[in-house]
Amino acid sequence: MAVIVFDQVCFTYSPKSPFHSDALKGVDLSFSSTDFLALVGHTGSGKSTIIEHLNALLVPTSGEVRIGEYISSSNKKRRSKKLGYLRRKVGLVFQFSENQLFEDTLIKDVMFGPRNFGDSPEAAHLKAVEALGEVGLPEEYYERSPFELSGGERRRAAIAGVLAVGPKLLVLDEPTSGLDPEGAREMMDLFKKIHERGTGIVLVTHDMDIVLGYAKKVAVVDNGKIAMTGTPAEVFSKDLKPYGLEKPLVYQTIDILNAHGYSLSYQYENLDDLAKAIKEGKKQ
Ligand SMILES: Nc1ncnc2c1ncn2[C@@H]1O[C@H](COP(=O)(O)OP(=O)(O)O)[C@@H](O)[C@H]1O
Ligand SMILES: [Mg+2]
Repeated sequence: MAVIVFDQVCFTYSPKSPFHSDALKGVDLSFSSTDFLALVGHTGSGKSTIIEHLNALLVPTSGEVRIGEYISSSNKKRRSKKLGYLRRKVGLVFQFSENQLFEDTLIKDVMFGPRNFGDSPEAAHLKAVEALGEVGLPEEYYERSPFELSGGERRRAAIAGVLAVGPKLLVLDEPTSGLDPEGAREMMDLFKKIHERGTGIVLVTHDMDIVLGYAKKVAVVDNGKIAMTGTPAEVFSKDLKPYGLEKPLVYQTIDILNAHGYSLSYQYENLDDLAKAIKEGKKQ
């Protein structure tokens, strides 16, 4: 599965009802399974609706999404028949996924996905152990009830449940929301590790510092469309106020310094690097 392509995707919730909402209005977007892509945009811009199209949980009202060989379309002649392949390759982790654990032990919860795709209990157990190791949940937790884990641990457990199926693309809706800065960094370092071993990452986030620190590509969603795509440095050098977005802290700091006579470019990825440059006397 090399590429995912959104081709003029429109999506309407509850058409012709009082709850009618045109959430996507012609989304064109493409990326490969080697990407580390962040979707950003104000609340209600359509981010969650976009990612729920990535594994055909939602099907476009018009336009189509091509996910590898799979075609998701409301046109019955175009639409692919078998969902199984797609659901294995694209793993979706919902916002507040920690509330979706349901088995009575952690290990059973993580084994659920592989079992559901037909693995034997032994094979599913092996995959669950590997996934739990990857997210950093130790063996002494395996027989505990998910309710005995902390919120952060439960979120890791939910991610392990998706990883255990072996997706080529891991899609996460606001995975750091509600975590403290340390917890958020640990979570992002986990995704960085998963990306480095060859899994694509697509992530919705409100934290622009996270985008600058981790993502390789950003897509700005605005009013059901893609307003802009590029590297974090490209996107954050533009005026993002019309899209209701702040710049990362280091770029905001550069803006303030430049207003006071500096002419620094946006080449620094964090405040440490910026501080060092200024200490060395750099003004540009
Ligand atoms: N289940 C739903 N029924 C009706 N409208 C919805 C539903 N979910 C989302 N919407 C609407 O679709 C638009 C996009 O929502 P969403 O994709 O959740 O945005 P985001 O994730 O960027 O906050 C919003 O206007 C929202 O109110
Ligand atoms: Mg959302």
